[in-house]
Amino acid sequence: MFIQKLRVSIFNLAMSIAKVVDLMNAAIGQHHMQVAYWGYRLADALSLSDDEKLDIFIAGLLHDIGAFSMKERIDLLAFEDTRPGAHAVAGSLILEGFEPFAAIAELIKFHHLPWKNGRGGVQDGVRVPAGSHIIHLADRVAVQISPHAPVLGQVRTICEAVSQQRGAVFVPEHVDALLSMNHREYMWLEATSPHMEAVLKRIVPVSTRELSEQQLVKFAKLICRLIDFKSEFTATHSSGVAAVAVELAGLTGFSKNERRMVEIAGYLHDLGKLAIPSEIIEKAGPLNENERFIMRSHVYYTYETLEPFEVLRPVSRWGALHQERLNGTGYPFGFDSDDLPLGARIMAVADVFTALTEDRPYRKGMDKKHTMAVLQAMSDTGELDAAIVARVSKR
Ligand SMILES: [Fe+2]
Ligand SMILES: [Fe+2]
Ligand SMILES: [Fe+2]
Repeated sequence: MFIQKLRVSIFNLAMSIAKVVDLMNAAIGQHHMQVAYWGYRLADALSLSDDEKLDIFIAGLLHDIGAFSMKERIDLLAFEDTRPGAHAVAGSLILEGFEPFAAIAELIKFHHLPWKNGRGGVQDGVRVPAGSHIIHLADRVAVQISPHAPVLGQVRTICEAVSQQRGAVFVPEHVDALLSMNHREYMWLEATSPHMEAVLKRIVPVSTRELSEQQLVKFAKLICRLIDFKSEFTATHSSGVAAVAVELAGLTGFSKNERRMVEIAGYLHDLGKLAIPSEIIEKAGPLNENERFIMRSHVYYTYETLEPFEVLRPVSRWGALHQERLNGTGYPFGFDSDDLPLGARIMAVADVFTALTEDRPYRKGMDKKHTMAVLQAMSDTGELDAAIVARVSKR
Protein backbone atom coordinates (compact mmCIF):
# COMPACT_ATOMS: atom_id res chain seq x y z
CA MET A 1 0.00 0.00 0.00
CA PHE A 2 1.30 3.46 -0.93
CA ILE A 3 1.43 5.83 1.98
CA GLN A 4 1.85 9.51 1.24
CA LYS A 5 4.39 11.63 3.04
CA LEU A 6 2.75 12.56 6.29
CA ARG A 7 2.28 16.23 6.97
CA VAL A 8 -0.79 17.45 8.78
CA SER A 9 -1.94 21.00 9.47
CA ILE A 10 -2.03 21.87 13.19
CA PHE A 11 -4.92 24.25 12.52
CA ASN A 12 -7.06 21.45 11.06
CA LEU A 13 -6.09 18.95 13.74
CA ALA A 14 -6.94 21.32 16.58
CA MET A 15 -10.23 22.21 14.89
CA SER A 16 -11.17 18.54 14.62
CA ILE A 17 -10.33 17.86 18.26
CA ALA A 18 -12.40 20.89 19.29
CA LYS A 19 -15.40 19.61 17.37
CA VAL A 20 -15.33 16.09 18.76
CA VAL A 21 -14.81 17.27 22.35
CA ASP A 22 -17.83 19.57 22.06
CA LEU A 23 -20.11 16.75 20.91
CA MET A 24 -20.40 15.67 24.55
CA ASN A 25 -23.62 17.56 25.11
CA ALA A 26 -25.87 19.73 22.96
CA ALA A 27 -25.75 22.48 25.62
CA ILE A 28 -22.02 22.86 25.00
CA GLY A 29 -22.71 23.87 21.41
CA GLN A 30 -19.57 24.94 19.57
CA HIS A 31 -17.90 26.27 22.70
CA HIS A 32 -14.29 25.60 21.73
CA MET A 33 -14.68 27.15 18.30
CA GLN A 34 -16.49 30.14 19.81
CA VAL A 35 -13.70 30.77 22.29
CA ALA A 36 -11.13 30.41 19.51
CA TYR A 37 -13.16 32.97 17.54
CA TRP A 38 -13.28 35.58 20.32
CA GLY A 39 -9.68 34.91 21.29
CA TYR A 40 -8.57 35.57 17.73
CA ARG A 41 -10.72 38.69 17.36
CA LEU A 42 -9.47 40.13 20.65
CA ALA A 43 -5.84 39.34 19.82
CA ASP A 44 -6.34 41.01 16.46
CA ALA A 45 -7.91 44.11 18.01
CA LEU A 46 -4.96 44.26 20.42
CA SER A 47 -2.57 44.14 17.42
CA LEU A 48 -0.71 41.04 18.56
CA SER A 49 1.67 39.32 16.15
CA ASP A 50 0.45 36.63 13.74
CA ASP A 51 2.20 33.93 15.77
CA GLU A 52 0.61 35.10 19.02
CA LYS A 53 -2.79 35.26 17.36
CA LEU A 54 -2.44 31.72 16.07
CA ASP A 55 -1.31 30.41 19.47
CA ILE A 56 -4.32 32.04 21.11
CA PHE A 57 -6.58 30.66 18.41
CA ILE A 58 -5.33 27.07 18.86
CA ALA A 59 -5.37 27.40 22.66
CA GLY A 60 -8.99 28.55 22.34
CA LEU A 61 -9.79 25.43 20.34
CA LEU A 62 -8.31 23.19 23.02
CA HIS A 63 -8.69 25.15 26.27
CA ASP A 64 -11.15 22.86 28.08
CA ILE A 65 -9.81 19.48 26.95
CA GLY A 66 -8.83 18.75 30.55
CA ALA A 67 -12.52 18.71 31.62
CA PHE A 68 -13.58 15.11 31.11
CA SER A 69 -17.01 14.83 32.68
CA MET A 70 -20.31 16.16 31.45
CA LYS A 71 -20.87 17.85 34.82
CA GLU A 72 -17.59 19.72 34.62
CA ARG A 73 -18.23 20.88 31.05
CA ILE A 74 -21.75 22.08 31.86
CA ASP A 75 -20.62 23.79 35.10
CA LEU A 76 -18.05 25.74 33.12
CA LEU A 77 -20.83 27.29 31.07
CA ALA A 78 -21.96 29.32 34.10
CA PHE A 79 -20.64 32.89 33.89
CA GLU A 80 -19.69 32.94 37.57
CA ASP A 81 -17.38 29.94 37.58
CA THR A 82 -16.42 28.81 41.04
CA ARG A 83 -13.75 26.09 40.93
CA PRO A 84 -12.35 26.28 37.42
CA GLY A 85 -8.64 25.56 38.05
CA ALA A 86 -8.27 21.79 37.82
CA HIS A 87 -9.26 21.28 34.18
CA ALA A 88 -6.97 24.10 33.07
CA VAL A 89 -3.98 22.50 34.78
CA ALA A 90 -4.94 19.02 33.49
CA GLY A 91 -5.27 20.35 29.93
CA SER A 92 -1.90 22.06 30.06
CA LEU A 93 -0.21 18.99 31.56
CA ILE A 94 -1.49 16.86 28.70
CA LEU A 95 -0.23 19.28 26.07
CA GLU A 96 2.98 20.63 27.56
CA GLY A 97 5.26 17.67 26.78
CA PHE A 98 4.59 18.12 23.08
CA GLU A 99 7.03 20.71 21.79
CA PRO A 100 4.86 22.34 19.09
CA PHE A 101 2.18 22.94 21.75
CA ALA A 102 4.40 24.12 24.62
CA ALA A 103 3.34 27.78 24.34
CA ILE A 104 -0.29 26.74 23.89
CA ALA A 105 -0.16 24.61 27.07
CA GLU A 106 1.09 27.68 28.94
CA LEU A 107 -1.88 29.74 27.71
CA ILE A 108 -4.34 27.03 28.74
CA LYS A 109 -2.88 26.60 32.22
CA PHE A 110 -4.05 30.03 33.40
CA HIS A 111 -7.17 30.54 31.33
CA HIS A 112 -9.43 31.14 34.34
CA LEU A 113 -7.05 33.28 36.36
CA PRO A 114 -8.66 36.61 37.37
CA TRP A 115 -6.64 39.75 36.67
CA LYS A 116 -6.99 40.99 40.26
CA ASN A 117 -6.02 44.51 39.19
CA GLY A 118 -2.64 43.35 38.01
CA ARG A 119 -1.82 40.65 40.54
CA GLY A 120 -3.06 38.08 38.02
CA GLY A 121 -0.08 38.94 35.84
CA VAL A 122 2.04 36.55 37.89
CA GLN A 123 1.12 33.22 39.43
CA ASP A 124 3.42 31.23 41.73
CA GLY A 125 6.32 33.41 40.63
CA VAL A 126 5.64 32.68 36.94
CA ARG A 127 4.63 35.39 34.49
CA VAL A 128 1.17 34.65 33.12
CA PRO A 129 1.00 35.21 29.36
CA ALA A 130 -1.40 37.92 28.19
CA GLY A 131 -2.94 35.29 25.93
CA SER A 132 -4.26 33.40 28.97
CA HIS A 133 -6.19 36.47 30.04
CA ILE A 134 -7.44 36.94 26.49
CA ILE A 135 -8.75 33.36 26.43
CA HIS A 136 -10.34 33.94 29.83
CA LEU A 137 -12.27 36.91 28.49
CA ALA A 138 -13.10 35.11 25.22
CA ASP A 139 -14.42 32.17 27.25
CA ARG A 140 -16.56 34.32 29.52
CA VAL A 141 -18.02 36.18 26.55
CA ALA A 142 -18.81 32.91 24.78
CA VAL A 143 -20.63 31.37 27.78
CA GLN A 144 -22.90 34.38 28.13
CA ILE A 145 -24.35 34.12 24.66
CA SER A 146 -27.67 32.30 24.77
CA PRO A 147 -28.57 30.30 21.66
CA HIS A 148 -32.25 30.84 22.50
CA ALA A 149 -32.46 34.56 21.74
CA PRO A 150 -31.13 36.82 18.96
CA VAL A 151 -27.49 37.53 19.73
CA LEU A 152 -27.75 41.18 18.71
CA GLY A 153 -30.18 41.73 21.55
CA GLN A 154 -27.66 40.34 24.01
CA VAL A 155 -24.60 42.42 23.13
CA ARG A 156 -25.32 45.26 25.56
CA THR A 157 -25.93 43.01 28.56
CA ILE A 158 -22.82 40.96 27.83
CA CYS A 159 -20.63 44.03 27.45
CA GLU A 160 -22.04 45.49 30.67
CA ALA A 161 -21.40 42.28 32.61
CA VAL A 162 -17.81 42.19 31.36
CA SER A 163 -17.28 45.91 32.05
CA GLN A 164 -18.36 45.46 35.65
CA GLN A 165 -15.43 43.10 36.08
CA ARG A 166 -12.92 45.31 34.29
CA GLY A 167 -9.74 45.18 36.33
CA ALA A 168 -10.98 42.76 39.00
CA VAL A 169 -11.40 39.79 36.66
CA PHE A 170 -10.39 40.93 33.19
CA VAL A 171 -7.46 42.99 31.91
CA PRO A 172 -8.77 46.56 31.28
CA GLU A 173 -7.24 46.81 27.78
CA HIS A 174 -8.81 43.47 26.84
CA VAL A 175 -12.23 44.70 27.98
CA ASP A 176 -11.70 47.87 25.95
CA ALA A 177 -10.86 45.75 22.91
CA LEU A 178 -14.13 43.87 23.35
CA LEU A 179 -16.10 47.08 23.77
CA SER A 180 -14.62 48.37 20.52
CA MET A 181 -16.46 45.48 18.85
CA ASN A 182 -19.87 46.08 20.38
CA HIS A 183 -21.16 47.92 17.33
CA ARG A 184 -19.71 45.41 14.85
CA GLU A 185 -22.82 43.34 14.45
CA TYR A 186 -21.23 40.96 11.99
CA MET A 187 -18.78 39.75 14.63
CA TRP A 188 -21.56 38.75 16.99
CA LEU A 189 -23.32 37.02 14.14
CA GLU A 190 -20.12 35.25 13.13
CA ALA A 191 -19.57 34.18 16.74
CA THR A 192 -22.93 32.41 16.79
CA SER A 193 -22.95 31.14 13.23
CA PRO A 194 -24.01 27.51 12.85
CA HIS A 195 -21.26 27.38 10.23
CA MET A 196 -18.54 28.31 12.67
CA GLU A 197 -15.89 26.15 11.10
CA ALA A 198 -16.31 27.91 7.77
CA VAL A 199 -16.20 31.29 9.56
CA LEU A 200 -12.94 30.41 11.27
CA LYS A 201 -11.39 29.13 8.06
CA ARG A 202 -12.35 32.38 6.37
CA ILE A 203 -10.98 34.79 8.96
CA VAL A 204 -7.86 33.02 10.25
CA PRO A 205 -5.14 33.20 7.58
CA VAL A 206 -4.05 29.84 6.21
CA SER A 207 -1.34 28.65 8.51
CA THR A 208 1.74 26.84 7.38
CA ARG A 209 2.20 25.23 10.76
CA GLU A 210 2.32 21.53 10.15
CA LEU A 211 3.33 18.42 12.02
CA SER A 212 6.00 16.22 10.49
CA GLU A 213 5.57 12.45 10.54
CA GLN A 214 7.50 12.06 13.79
CA GLN A 215 5.55 14.89 15.41
CA LEU A 216 2.33 13.32 14.21
CA VAL A 217 3.15 10.08 16.02
CA LYS A 218 3.89 12.11 19.16
CA PHE A 219 0.67 14.04 18.72
CA ALA A 220 -1.28 10.79 18.31
CA LYS A 221 0.30 9.56 21.56
CA LEU A 222 -0.74 12.77 23.27
CA ILE A 223 -4.33 12.37 22.09
CA CYS A 224 -4.13 8.73 23.14
CA ARG A 225 -3.19 9.87 26.66
CA LEU A 226 -6.09 12.29 26.62
CA ILE A 227 -8.51 9.53 25.62
CA ASP A 228 -7.11 7.04 28.10
CA PHE A 229 -7.06 9.61 30.96
CA LYS A 230 -10.84 9.71 30.88
CA SER A 231 -10.96 6.68 33.10
CA GLU A 232 -8.48 4.87 35.29
CA PHE A 233 -9.91 1.65 33.86
CA THR A 234 -8.90 2.54 30.35
CA ALA A 235 -5.70 4.29 31.41
CA THR A 236 -3.54 2.22 29.05
CA HIS A 237 -6.16 0.96 26.61
CA SER A 238 -5.25 2.84 23.42
CA SER A 239 -1.51 2.49 23.93
CA GLY A 240 -2.11 -1.23 24.61
CA VAL A 241 -4.13 -1.61 21.42
CA ALA A 242 -1.39 0.19 19.47
CA ALA A 243 1.30 -2.14 20.83
CA VAL A 244 -0.68 -5.33 20.14
CA ALA A 245 -1.74 -4.13 16.68
CA VAL A 246 1.82 -3.23 15.68
CA GLU A 247 2.99 -6.67 16.72
CA LEU A 248 0.21 -8.38 14.78
CA ALA A 249 0.91 -6.16 11.77
CA GLY A 250 4.57 -7.25 11.92
CA LEU A 251 3.54 -10.92 12.00
CA THR A 252 1.19 -10.24 9.07
CA GLY A 253 3.99 -8.82 6.90
CA PHE A 254 3.12 -5.11 7.02
CA SER A 255 5.92 -2.77 5.90
CA LYS A 256 7.61 -0.35 8.29
CA ASN A 257 5.49 2.54 6.99
CA GLU A 258 2.31 0.53 7.33
CA ARG A 259 3.23 -0.49 10.87
CA ARG A 260 3.71 3.17 11.72
CA MET A 261 0.18 3.84 10.42
CA VAL A 262 -1.12 0.89 12.45
CA GLU A 263 0.53 2.39 15.52
CA ILE A 264 -1.19 5.75 14.93
CA ALA A 265 -4.48 3.95 14.24
CA GLY A 266 -4.12 2.18 17.59
CA TYR A 267 -3.53 5.44 19.43
CA LEU A 268 -6.49 7.10 17.73
CA HIS A 269 -9.00 4.28 17.25
CA ASP A 270 -11.05 5.50 20.22
CA LEU A 271 -10.68 9.20 19.40
CA GLY A 272 -14.48 9.48 19.34
CA LYS A 273 -14.48 8.73 23.08
CA LEU A 274 -13.52 12.37 23.57
CA ALA A 275 -17.20 12.99 22.85
CA ILE A 276 -18.34 10.56 25.55
CA PRO A 277 -18.61 11.94 29.09
CA SER A 278 -16.44 10.23 31.68
CA GLU A 279 -19.63 9.52 33.66
CA ILE A 280 -20.45 6.86 31.05
CA ILE A 281 -16.91 5.62 30.41
CA GLU A 282 -16.30 5.17 34.13
CA LYS A 283 -19.74 3.96 35.15
CA ALA A 284 -19.45 1.23 37.77
CA GLY A 285 -21.90 -1.32 36.45
CA PRO A 286 -23.46 -2.19 33.13
CA LEU A 287 -24.61 0.69 30.92
CA ASN A 288 -28.33 1.24 30.37
CA GLU A 289 -29.69 1.27 26.84
CA ASN A 290 -29.25 5.00 26.20
CA GLU A 291 -25.75 4.95 27.59
CA ARG A 292 -24.93 2.02 25.34
CA PHE A 293 -26.11 3.96 22.30
CA ILE A 294 -24.00 6.95 23.35
CA MET A 295 -21.00 4.69 23.88
CA ARG A 296 -21.43 3.02 20.48
CA SER A 297 -21.41 6.39 18.74
CA HIS A 298 -17.74 6.91 19.58
CA VAL A 299 -16.60 4.75 16.68
CA TYR A 300 -18.49 6.83 14.17
CA TYR A 301 -17.01 10.00 15.65
CA THR A 302 -13.51 8.56 15.32
CA TYR A 303 -14.26 8.01 11.66
CA GLU A 304 -15.87 11.41 11.12
CA THR A 305 -12.94 13.18 12.79
CA LEU A 306 -10.17 11.40 10.91
CA GLU A 307 -11.65 10.80 7.49
CA PRO A 308 -11.23 14.41 6.22
CA PHE A 309 -7.44 14.09 6.59
CA GLU A 310 -6.41 12.54 3.33
CA VAL A 311 -2.97 11.45 4.54
CA LEU A 312 -4.59 9.77 7.54
CA ARG A 313 -6.98 7.64 5.49
CA PRO A 314 -5.33 4.36 6.56
CA VAL A 315 -5.80 5.47 10.16
CA SER A 316 -9.50 6.15 9.68
CA ARG A 317 -10.02 3.03 7.54
CA TRP A 318 -8.19 0.79 10.01
CA GLY A 319 -8.66 2.43 13.38
CA ALA A 320 -12.21 3.67 12.96
CA LEU A 321 -13.45 0.30 11.69
CA HIS A 322 -12.37 -1.62 14.78
CA GLN A 323 -15.97 -2.47 15.75
CA GLU A 324 -16.85 -3.86 12.32
CA ARG A 325 -17.12 -7.65 12.14
CA LEU A 326 -16.35 -9.94 9.20
CA ASN A 327 -19.82 -11.48 9.34
CA GLY A 328 -21.48 -8.06 9.08
CA THR A 329 -22.67 -7.81 12.69
CA GLY A 330 -20.44 -4.89 13.65
CA TYR A 331 -20.99 -1.15 13.59
CA PRO A 332 -21.33 1.67 12.57
CA PHE A 333 -21.23 0.68 8.86
CA GLY A 334 -22.23 -2.97 9.07
CA PHE A 335 -19.39 -3.83 6.65
CA ASP A 336 -18.48 -7.45 6.03
CA SER A 337 -15.43 -9.39 4.93
CA ASP A 338 -15.59 -7.92 1.42
CA ASP A 339 -15.14 -4.40 2.78
CA LEU A 340 -12.75 -4.87 5.66
CA PRO A 341 -9.05 -4.39 4.92
CA LEU A 342 -6.44 -6.37 6.79
CA GLY A 343 -5.55 -3.35 8.93
CA ALA A 344 -9.14 -3.08 10.21
CA ARG A 345 -9.18 -6.82 11.02
CA ILE A 346 -5.95 -6.46 12.98
CA MET A 347 -7.34 -3.49 14.89
CA ALA A 348 -10.51 -5.40 15.75
CA VAL A 349 -8.55 -8.31 17.20
CA ALA A 350 -6.12 -5.99 19.03
CA ASP A 351 -9.04 -4.03 20.50
CA VAL A 352 -10.96 -7.08 21.76
CA PHE A 353 -7.78 -8.68 23.10
CA THR A 354 -6.72 -5.55 24.97
CA ALA A 355 -10.22 -4.80 26.31
CA LEU A 356 -10.69 -8.31 27.66
CA THR A 357 -7.43 -8.27 29.57
CA GLU A 358 -8.16 -4.90 31.24
CA ASP A 359 -9.97 -4.42 34.53
CA ARG A 360 -13.28 -2.65 34.06
CA PRO A 361 -15.46 -0.93 36.70
CA TYR A 362 -17.70 -4.00 36.82
CA ARG A 363 -15.29 -6.87 36.17
CA LYS A 364 -11.69 -7.95 36.52
CA GLY A 365 -9.48 -8.39 33.47
CA MET A 366 -9.35 -11.93 32.04
CA ASP A 367 -6.29 -14.15 32.05
CA LYS A 368 -4.73 -15.30 28.79
CA LYS A 369 -6.59 -18.63 28.68
CA HIS A 370 -10.04 -17.05 28.97
CA THR A 371 -9.12 -14.23 26.62
CA MET A 372 -8.04 -16.73 23.97
CA ALA A 373 -11.26 -18.69 24.46
CA VAL A 374 -13.33 -15.56 23.75
CA LEU A 375 -11.22 -14.63 20.72
CA GLN A 376 -11.52 -18.19 19.40
CA ALA A 377 -15.30 -18.12 19.85
CA MET A 378 -15.45 -14.80 17.96
CA SER A 379 -13.35 -16.30 15.21
CA ASP A 380 -15.64 -19.37 15.05
CA THR A 381 -18.73 -17.17 14.63
CA GLY A 382 -17.03 -15.31 11.78
CA GLU A 383 -16.68 -12.04 13.68
CA LEU A 384 -12.90 -11.88 13.86
CA ASP A 385 -10.32 -12.97 11.32
CA ALA A 386 -9.26 -16.54 12.13
CA ALA A 387 -5.71 -16.16 10.80
CA ILE A 388 -5.09 -13.09 12.96
CA VAL A 389 -6.60 -14.72 16.04
CA ALA A 390 -4.29 -17.67 15.43
CA ARG A 391 -1.35 -15.25 15.48
CA VAL A 392 -2.41 -13.88 18.87
CA SER A 393 -2.33 -17.34 20.38
CA LYS A 394 1.30 -17.66 19.27
CA ARG A 395 2.36 -14.46 21.07
FE1 LIG B 1 -12.15 26.47 31.00
FE1 LIG C 1 -14.37 27.13 28.19
FE1 LIG D 1 -10.85 0.43 21.94
